[in-house]
Amino acid sequence: MHRQPSRDREHIPCSNRRLYGTDEFFAVTVMQSGNRGFRFNLRHDILKIAMATEKTFYLETFGCQMNAHDSEKVIGTLQQQGYRQVESEEDAGLILYNTCSIRDKAEQKVFNRLNDYKKLHKAGKRFGVLGCVAQQEGGKIFERAPYVSLVSGSASYRKLPEMLARLESGETRITGLDDRQTDETFETEFTARQNPYRGYITIIEGCDKFCSYCVVPYTRGKERSRSSSSVLAEARRIADMGYTEIQLLGQNVNSYRDAEGKSSFAELLASVGQVPGIRRVRFTTSHPRDFTRDIVEAIDAVPTLCDHVHLPVQSGSSRVLKLMAREYTREWYLERISWIKAARRPISLSTDIIVGFPGETPDDFIETMDLLAEVEYDCVFGFKYSARPNTPALTMIDSISEAEKSHRLQVLLDRQREIQRVNYSKHLGQIIEVMVEGMNPARGQVAGRSSQNKPVNFTCAQPIAPAPGSYAQVRITGAFPNSLVGEAV
Ligand code: SAH
Ligand code: SF4
Ligand code: F3S
Repeated sequence: MHRQPSRDREHIPCSNRRLYGTDEFFAVTVMQSGNRGFRFNLRHDILKIAMATEKTFYLETFGCQMNAHDSEKVIGTLQQQGYRQVESEEDAGLILYNTCSIRDKAEQKVFNRLNDYKKLHKAGKRFGVLGCVAQQEGGKIFERAPYVSLVSGSASYRKLPEMLARLESGETRITGLDDRQTDETFETEFTARQNPYRGYITIIEGCDKFCSYCVVPYTRGKERSRSSSSVLAEARRIADMGYTEIQLLGQNVNSYRDAEGKSSFAELLASVGQVPGIRRVRFTTSHPRDFTRDIVEAIDAVPTLCDHVHLPVQSGSSRVLKLMAREYTREWYLERISWIKAARRPISLSTDIIVGFPGETPDDFIETMDLLAEVEYDCVFGFKYSARPNTPALTMIDSISEAEKSHRLQVLLDRQREIQRVNYSKHLGQIIEVMVEGMNPARGQVAGRSSQNKPVNFTCAQPIAPAPGSYAQVRITGAFPNSLVGEAV
């Protein structure tokens, strides 16, 4: 029989190929067809049937970088199970939300979304809630949104293929909620990397710190580290894919304990920085209690480790830090800052601060303001305290009004803006290496980031814009409190 499977396949757009499951299935169908006209009709019919049964999903992600990277792994897993990702809820058979519950507002977002799209359930679409709200609320989600069929926390993602199979067989109350005490991490070779210039690698999952305000230990389960060989193998795979920047992730990367006992966190960091092809390594988040001096020594020794440390302080008052169960004092924190400032190259510092924690007095707040002036951060993420389910702080009297919290936050951010205005202007006239992240079409500028993690927008003489992930040397000609401006040299 005459057959031209490869030519026939070329007529099918790539995205439609997946409709057929496997190429083998398609090749067999063509072989059986015989005459051309019949073959066309058969293919047309198959296309129609396949479109009706095609497995598609829409995934929206809320929350931190760990959640964003979890989503990359979830997408890869779904694709491996024969699903195709689509751009809107309307086009999807399965609608997934990967959720965050760090503050009340973040948590509300998922219920707003579910409410906005519940009408799609009538059209036969299925809903799943993943991530931190899923783990926190568990089966209660089925009561609040009965059209949801799947609820799974991040500690259960290893079981996603099995949960998807149950979903496909028509089950409507599937949960993945019982794995918070697991020692296993979610490792998959099918990560569908969405970021074009930065490869994320989770090195440690969960958190054992139990800060008194925080949901994460309850939503992500106990701390568990990957082996250094598995992390390094992933770093090499990422480099082979063409990535030059890696970001190591964990809620507390400093408490990394190599499952094989080979490397400390600082040693692992240095090894990732030495992977051929890697030019930039970032890591987040550090915890002051576990931050060790050898991390600064590694940054000094390995040029690819970025000049930036994110070290959340939460409060400048030792009294409040104690109430927060952060396990360090203001002095302990400032000692770590002094190590970082004593490094051979200037290392940029950023932090997270919570204002209005229960019992925070005006004097406590002044201590936080003084700390800002002393450290001179390049970036501060400020949050109003938000009472969270299950956390010990929930039982503390939250007597600070919403208006006072907003006022303190505004005072803090205004002061920080002035600090950044001074810090950023110190770069005027310098030539800085910038990694390109995209274009700012409104301004006709290329958008990128320095090793210190500062946004840099620049013009370049070339007619074609540099690609995301490429590097440019940029002379800094302007400075704002949150970004630098320059021209490629
Ligand atoms: N593991 C990291 C970050 C966790 S979440 C760390 O320990 O620093 C990111 C930030 O959200 C925290 O640093 C904290 O500043 C803020 N945050 C966490 N819980 C909060 C709450 N209940 N209310 C307000 N902000 C909170
Ligand atoms: Fe939350 Fe504290 Fe763990 Fe960070 S270290 S995730 S703030 S409990
Ligand atoms: Fe949110 Fe969970 Fe991350 S609560 S900040 S998505 S760990």
